[in-house]
Amino acid sequence: MKLTLILIIFFALASLQDDLRCREISGLGFCKEISYDVSSLYVPNEREMDKEASEFYSKYSGTMKVNTGECLEAFRSYTCASRFPKCPYCQTQNAFCRSGCVRYYAACGCGPGDTTLTCYTGDIYVDDEQVCTPHTQDLNLYSCVLPTGLQFCNSTFVTQPVYSVKNIQSASQVWNNMDLVASRRYQSFASSTSSLECKNVIKKMFCGINFTPCLNGQHQDPRSYLKTICDEMADHCDERMVRKLCTFDTPTPPDPSKCKPSNT
Ligand SMILES: *[C@@H]1O[C@H](CO)[C@@H](O)[C@H](O)[C@H]1NC(C)=O
Repeated sequence: MKLTLILIIFFALASLQDDLRCREISGLGFCKEISYDVSSLYVPNEREMDKEASEFYSKYSGTMKVNTGECLEAFRSYTCASRFPKCPYCQTQNAFCRSGCVRYYAACGCGPGDTTLTCYTGDIYVDDEQVCTPHTQDLNLYSCVLPTGLQFCNSTFVTQPVYSVKNIQSASQVWNNMDLVASRRYQSFASSTSSLECKNVIKKMFCGINFTPCLNGQHQDPRSYLKTICDEMADHCDERMVRKLCTFDTPTPPDPSKCKPSNT
């Protein structure tokens, strides 16, 4: 009986400590969508953090390659999510929800090598079912659209809708950029093989990475889609090429339950 009481008190204190490490934040000016528990360690002063986010955004939003309304909103959302990690992530760790990353790339395109595949490799994005920091773009701005006007990944290589912003003018900017990226990456790999079949599969690969078809009206994990292309690559390209292009490294993100308060 005594032991039970002691245990109850112990767990009550432990959860009180959790509460001190996490506190709900809302009503900010710039990051107005933030309305959940954030780590008090990471965010000692939310007004300061909000101001810093706003300054960061002002400084860098003009440098985005694609500067459509959708991309700027995705960038703003990312700027805030990165500063307000959802509890129980700790000071040095943030885990973003994968959906936000996917929408960021769908709205902004990106530099060489950066595609939605980025959202599936590395350890800072986790499936939305886990505890993760959401990005908050408006879902209604996105849908699956068949890209048009591509030069390199032409209609032979891109035959199905891809996850994009609905507005075609905005989407076109992203597609053109992705098309260019696919072409550059293709060239850097294709020059190392003389096999036409292999070159063709490499082209399929990069067009598939940059224009992964939707599945059931939703964005599809590019790794599943690329699997058949990788099998084909194994038939036509040398082993090193296959290893280079078909190894998708996905480390496990930190386990939030391992977080410790900084004073222990
Ligand atoms: C797409 O490009 C390839 C060359 O890589 C060409 O053979 C094919 O005819 C083109 N398809 C269309 C529909 O233009």
